[in-house]
This record gives sequence, C-alpha cells and structure tokens, in this order.
Amino acid sequence: MSETIYDALRESHEIQRSLLRKLLRSKPGTQDRISQFTQVRIECQAHEAAEERFLYAPMLIDDMGLISTRHALHEHHEIDELIEDLQALDPAGDAWLEKARELSHKVHHHLREEEKKFFQVSGKILSDAQKTRLAKQYRKDYARMLKVLAAE
Ligand SMILES: [Fe+2]
Ligand SMILES: [Fe+2]
Repeated sequence: MSETIYDALRESHEIQRSLLRKLLRSKPGTQDRISQFTQVRIECQAHEAAEERFLYAPMLIDDMGLISTRHALHEHHEIDELIEDLQALDPAGDAWLEKARELSHKVHHHLREEEKKFFQVSGKILSDAQKTRLAKQYRKDYARMLKVLAAE
C-alpha cells in the first residue's frame, strides 16, 4: 500500500519528539543548546507550514473539518509564539529551561491530539487517492521549507 499523508506526518512528529528530548537535555549556555534550538525551530516551522497546506487546507473546505482545523491552527500559532519567546531568552538561564519545558509540553500535547483526533476526523473527509497524493505534496513542501528556513 502506498504511503498516506498520516504516515508522513507521524514521521515528522517522531523527529520533533526526539529533537525536543535532546533540547531539554542540552547544557545551559552552550553552543550545543543554541544549535539544538535552531533544529527544533526549523523542524516545527517546516512541519507546521506543510501540514497546514496539505492536511488542514483540504480539511477546512469540509464542514466536518472546520472545528478541528481551527483548533489545530490556533495551537500552531501558540507553538510559534513559544518559539519566539524562547529565542529572546538567555540560553544559560532558568527562565530558558522553564520556557523550553513549556514548549515541549505544548508540542507533545498538540502532536498527540492530531494523532488521536484530527487525523481521524480528516480520515473521514479525504478520499484514499487524496491521502496518498497529499503525502507526496506534504513531503515535497516540507523538504523545501526546511531549506528555506535553514537559509534565513
Ligand atoms: Fe500540527
Ligand atoms: Fe503535526
């Protein structure tokens, strides 16, 4: 069976979980912490953009997908704000770790909610052909966004 959009999204979710684990284990004020943070930021932002375009945009068109889509996009925005807050903090300080924990908690909650709820909702909306086509489109845009964000 060909890959669906959900397989591709779950793969990105696992990358985020693993990067967040490493971020929380990084040592205060080190170059390692700064580069771990950059990786988390780029990964989250590339995933969000491609997911909004190739999961949520088609879901939003259907009445059944309206509430879930709104909820998910709101959480993406909250995650972006936490990333912005974290970027402004001193990576050697206690406030940094507290904010990084908050980000990790928020992302984990969001990924779980997508995997347990929103994917099921969209599963009823999208056709099988759409699910495989969107997987390819997601992967292409995600890879492109990773490059765009890394070049900034
Ligand atoms: Fe998401
Ligand atoms: Fe996601």
